[in-house]
Amino acid sequence: MSNEEQELEARLADQEYFRPSPEFVGQANVSDPAIYDRFDDFPAGFEEYAELLDWDKRWDEVLDASNPPFYEWFVGGELNASYNCVDRHLDERKNQAALRWEGEDGTQRTLTYQDLYREVNEMAAALQSIGVEEDDIVTIHLPMVPALPITMLACARLGAPHSVVFAGFSASALAERVRDADSEYIITIDGYYRRDELLDHIQKTDQALTEVEHDPQVLAWTRHDDARHEIDEEYTMVDDLLAEHRREEVEPVSRAAEDPLFLMYTSGTTGKPKGCQHRTGGYLAYVTGTSKYVEDIKPEDTYWCSADIGWITGHSYIVYGPLALGTTSLMYEGAPDHPHKGRIWEIAERYDVDIFHTSPTAVRMFMKWGEEYPEEYDFDFRHMTTVGEPIQPEAWLWYYTHIGDESAVIVDTWWQTETGGHLITNLPALQDMKPGSAGVPAPGIAPALYNDAGESLESANGQAGNLVIENPWPGMLQTVYGDDERFINTYWADFSETDSDDWHDWTYKAGDGAVHAQDGYFRVLGRLDDVMNVAGHRLGTMELESAVAEVEAVAEAAVAAREHAEKGEVPDVYVTLREGQEESEEVREAIVGAIETEIGPFARPANVLFVADLPKTRSGKIMRRLLEDISNEEELGDTTTLRDPSVPEQIREQIQAG
Ligand code: PRX
Repeated sequence: MSNEEQELEARLADQEYFRPSPEFVGQANVSDPAIYDRFDDFPAGFEEYAELLDWDKRWDEVLDASNPPFYEWFVGGELNASYNCVDRHLDERKNQAALRWEGEDGTQRTLTYQDLYREVNEMAAALQSIGVEEDDIVTIHLPMVPALPITMLACARLGAPHSVVFAGFSASALAERVRDADSEYIITIDGYYRRDELLDHIQKTDQALTEVEHDPQVLAWTRHDDARHEIDEEYTMVDDLLAEHRREEVEPVSRAAEDPLFLMYTSGTTGKPKGCQHRTGGYLAYVTGTSKYVEDIKPEDTYWCSADIGWITGHSYIVYGPLALGTTSLMYEGAPDHPHKGRIWEIAERYDVDIFHTSPTAVRMFMKWGEEYPEEYDFDFRHMTTVGEPIQPEAWLWYYTHIGDESAVIVDTWWQTETGGHLITNLPALQDMKPGSAGVPAPGIAPALYNDAGESLESANGQAGNLVIENPWPGMLQTVYGDDERFINTYWADFSETDSDDWHDWTYKAGDGAVHAQDGYFRVLGRLDDVMNVAGHRLGTMELESAVAEVEAVAEAAVAAREHAEKGEVPDVYVTLREGQEESEEVREAIVGAIETEIGPFARPANVLFVADLPKTRSGKIMRRLLEDISNEEELGDTTTLRDPSVPEQIREQIQAG
C-alpha cells in the first residue's frame, strides 16, 4: 500500500457505525440473521429466491455444476419473466400502479398492473406480427419512457431475448451491438427530452443501419401522439401496429430456466464490448430475492431507482426485481437539475417515494448543489441505496443526513453487469452501516481477496487484493454472447484451474480491488484493469483509444483515468501525432468528435494532451498507470521496465510547460 492508501485506510477504518432505526428493523422484510445460515446450505439456499416466482414447471435440480464455468441453475424449471412481472399480480392488485412515469416536460403517466398487462400483450402481438419469434434477439434503443419496459416485457413474453442499448450511445455503438448480436430487429423512438430539447433520437438508428451489413427491421415508437422528428418510410410505426392488435392477448412462452432473458453489453479491457448473456430463471430469482431482502421492497411501496434502464441497474432494479415483487416502480425521463435543482426532491414528494436508489456521482452532485434544495420538499425515505462506484464517507454522511434525515437506512451495493444483482451489501436491518464500505457478502455469496499470484489472502486482515467470488450464484452471466472462450479468459482463467471439472477449482475474477477489513466489511476500491468509471458509466480505455485512433492525424493514443470530484473519474487522452502533423484545436476537436461518434457524448474526454512519446515497456506495451500518475499529479510509479524511463518525466514537464 502507498502512503496515501494507508492514510485513506486509516481514515476509513475509523468510521463510526450507524445503526438502523428500530422502526426500520421492525418492518423489514428480513430481520432474522438466520437467513445467512439458510443460504450457507449451498446451493439449496438459493431456492428461497426461486420460490418467490411462479414457475410453470418446478426445477429438478438447483445447480448443475458439472461443466464449470457453464453453470446451470434451476435445471428443468420453466417460467416466463413477463408473466412473473405482470400477469401474476392481476388477481391481487390490478388497479395498483406498476409504473409511474414523469416526463421531463412534466407529463405524467401511471400504468396500473392491468394497463401494463394490456400494453405488454399488445406490444407482444405487434412484435409477433413483424416476425419476432422465440430466441430472436431484439435490440431496443429507447430512453427512459414507458415504451422501454413495455418493450422489454413484451420480448420476454415471447421468449425473445432483448438487448437494450443505452439511449446515450452513439449510432456506431448501436451498430456494433446490433452486429455482434446479429439482431434482426431494432426498436427505437423518434425523440425524447433532455434539458428542454426534444432530441432527434431516431437518426441514430438511420445512421446505424448504414453501418451494419444486414438489414434489420425497425419499429419506431413516438414520444408524442404525432412524431416530431422525420421517420424513414421503411420503418414500421409502433402506434399503427398497436392499433391493429388492440386488446389482443399473447400467451406467455414457457421458457426453460436456462434460456436467455437478455443481453447487456458492457465495456471490458478490449475495444469490443462484451454481450453479457443472462438466463431467465436464475437471473429473475436472484434480482427478485435481492429486491426483497436488500431493497426491502414491499408491494405497497413506491420505489424509485434513478438509474437508466439502459444499464444493468435499471434492468435488475427498476424493471425485473421490483415488478416481480408487484410494487410501484417510478421512472423519470430527464435531467436531475431541469428545470431546477430541486427536481428530484419535487418528484420524491409528488409520488411519496419510500425507497430511493441512486449513484455516488448523483449524491456528490446533490451535495455540491446544496441541502437547500432537498430541504424545500417534503419527502420521507425509509431506505436508500447507492450503487456503481465507491462512495466517499463525506458524501455518504451528507446523503444520510440531508436526504435520509438520519432515519433512512443506506445500503451500498457492490455488483456488476456480469453478476446480475447485488453480491456485496448489508441486509439493511441486520448490519450497522459503515460509510464507504459496501459491507458483508450477500446471502450465499462467497467473495474473497487474492493476491496477483492467485493465493487467497487471510480473511478480514485489512489487506488489499483482487476481489473474486469463489462460488457460483443464480444471477451470474451465462457467457459472453457467442464467445465462450472470451467468457473463460476474461472472468475465470486468471484464478481457476481451467482443466478441472470440479467447480471448487473455478474462481470468478471481478476485476476490482478491495479491502476486507477486520470487522468483515468489504470496501471496494475500484477497477484494477483498464476499465474506468465515469459518473457511474463503465468505459473501457481501449474503446476510447480505438475511437481516437480513427482520427487521421493521430499516431498513437492512450487513455488514463483522472480523478474527478463529482464524476469519480474522467478520461484524459494522451496522443502522439503522425509525422508532419501539428497539434491544433482542429485535431483536438476531431479527437473529441471521434469519441462522441464512436461511443457517445457521455464519454467525452476531460483533456486531450499532445505528447512527443508515450511510456512503453520494452515489449511495446503502453503503461497507462504512469499516465494516470501524471494526470492525478501523483508520484510516478516504477519506471524501470520502460524502454525509455525518461518519457513520463518528459510528459510531465511538457504538460506543466504547456
Ligand atoms: O468497479 C466496480 C463498480 O462498478 C463496476 C461495475 O460496473 P457496471 O458493470 O457498469 O455495473 C454498475 C452497476 C452494478 C464494478 O466492477 N462498482 C459497482 N458497485 C460499486 C462499485 N464500486 C464500489 N462500490 C460499489 N458499491
